[in-house]
Amino acid sequence: MFSGKVVLITGAAGGIGIAAAKAFAKEGAKLALVDLSKEALEKAANTMDAGDVLLLTANVANEDEVKRYVEETMNHYGQIDVFINNAGINGKFANLVDQSAENFQAVMNVNVNGVFFGLKHVLKTMMKQKSGVIVNTASNGGLLGAPGMGPYIASKHAVIGLNKTAALEAAEYGIRVNAVAPSGVDTAMMKSIETNAMPGKEQEAREMFESTVPMKRYATPEEIADLMVFLSSDKASFITGSYYRIDGGQGTGSA
Ligand SMILES: NC(=O)c1ccc[n+]([C@@H]2O[C@H](COP(=O)([O-])OP(=O)(O)OC[C@H]3O[C@@H](n4cnc5c(N)ncnc54)[C@H](O)[C@@H]3O)[C@@H](O)[C@H]2O)c1
Repeated sequence: MFSGKVVLITGAAGGIGIAAAKAFAKEGAKLALVDLSKEALEKAANTMDAGDVLLLTANVANEDEVKRYVEETMNHYGQIDVFINNAGINGKFANLVDQSAENFQAVMNVNVNGVFFGLKHVLKTMMKQKSGVIVNTASNGGLLGAPGMGPYIASKHAVIGLNKTAALEAAEYGIRVNAVAPSGVDTAMMKSIETNAMPGKEQEAREMFESTVPMKRYATPEEIADLMVFLSSDKASFITGSYYRIDGGQGTGSA
């Protein structure tokens, strides 16, 4: 489905990023993978059965580094067909009255500025190409509130807003922009959230989080990757500006 296409993924050494990279590689894509550390990227790439893979270290919160990962992808491949704007952090848990400005800003820097810079520089390239597809990783936290997670919740609501704006600005160029909004996914991030919520009682925290999902489990990263692949494919050719809950029914309301 993606033979000869170039797929650029941020947060590519993390759980969802790796699953996305593998899913696109399986469909024949060439990969450009962005994350903070070269070592983590190499470790991730070693788990993939992929042909062309370009590894790029960048902090997505730094606009110059974002500009550079886009330029390096273009220098190497000459095109960007799909952009998975995925890197994110959860930050520290505290209710708003106890939340620090530093933590709030740190989460916004990665989750909002990082997504904005990625959209800005990839869209410039895709607008010249007059083609491309973008999937932003939001969260069910972009649609719902959660006590103690104010910075993350605010950042993911912002991602939904950027997603809608980007879709409207890019539509006339033949570019589609959508977002995925998962509930808990079985990755390092959810482990960090468990520790934040109940330090030392991670298994209990997991059971508590899973009990809030009608399907009573976390998503697998592969399930999120499958939705990303669908939204990036021609099968989703009339879908833009949308966000897709992938949450085992969690956002539906009470059972
Ligand atoms: N795991 C979940 O439960 C869940 C649920 C909904 C949404 N999400 C979102 O999915 C995305 C991927 O998360 P994940 O679950 O794979 O977590 P993860 O922690 O496994 O992966 C996140 C990756 O992003 C990278 N990253 C963090 N800050 C970065 C920065 N400044 N620059 C470049 N890379 C950076 C990390 O190094 C890591 O490899 C995030 O945006 C997250 O908010 C996750």
